[in-house]
Amino acid sequence: MNIDLHTHLLPGVDDGSPDMEESLRILERMKAGGAERVYLTPHLYSPRTPTDIGAIKESWRKHSAPLNSSGVEVLLGSEVFLRPEALTGEVITMGETDVLLVELPTSARPHYLIEAIEVLQKRGFRIVLAHVERYGFLFKKSLLPFSRSKLEDEVYRLKDMGVLFQVNWDSLKDGRTGLLLEKRMVETIGSDKHHNRDGRGVIDFSSESASQFINDYYL
Ligand SMILES: [Fe+2]
Repeated sequence: MNIDLHTHLLPGVDDGSPDMEESLRILERMKAGGAERVYLTPHLYSPRTPTDIGAIKESWRKHSAPLNSSGVEVLLGSEVFLRPEALTGEVITMGETDVLLVELPTSARPHYLIEAIEVLQKRGFRIVLAHVERYGFLFKKSLLPFSRSKLEDEVYRLKDMGVLFQVNWDSLKDGRTGLLLEKRMVETIGSDKHHNRDGRGVIDFSSESASQFINDYYL
């Protein structure tokens, strides 16, 4: 099944789509690209984009039926920023499964990374790490821009812990995902599409680059 695991198309709850019309227009383009299922993953616990879980649920109650009339199956999830509040707080899993999409700060390695993932795993969640290619601290330094020459040991540790990796569709073009793909570390892909003006593409599921991901075996 062709799945876009990571989008911000739940209207009016975060820095994503502002309204239904825009979400429907984007879903139409996603459908034309071959998407069969799209997860809405509004930010939760993000320091940069604060959101309200009650407002997210309310928007979902209001919009799930019309969004699903687009001809694409649309399910609710969230993108949980890994910080202390998220470890004990309420979260929204992907389509009511035990799968949780988790994002990390990009600026510096969180010193609690492994421990925090373990806490979430102990709560019963299977973790998908969002846009892994963005976290420079998981790659050994290289002099070439965007070149990722070696993976830090922590990447292997995360894989040993059963953490699934998601990369962004647009990152397939700039080389940041190369090493992760070469080493077969990546299970899934998402557009991380926010709105019409974000300049991000929708996934072309008929392309060779999209066909290397097994998007649905864990969902
Ligand atoms: Fe996102």
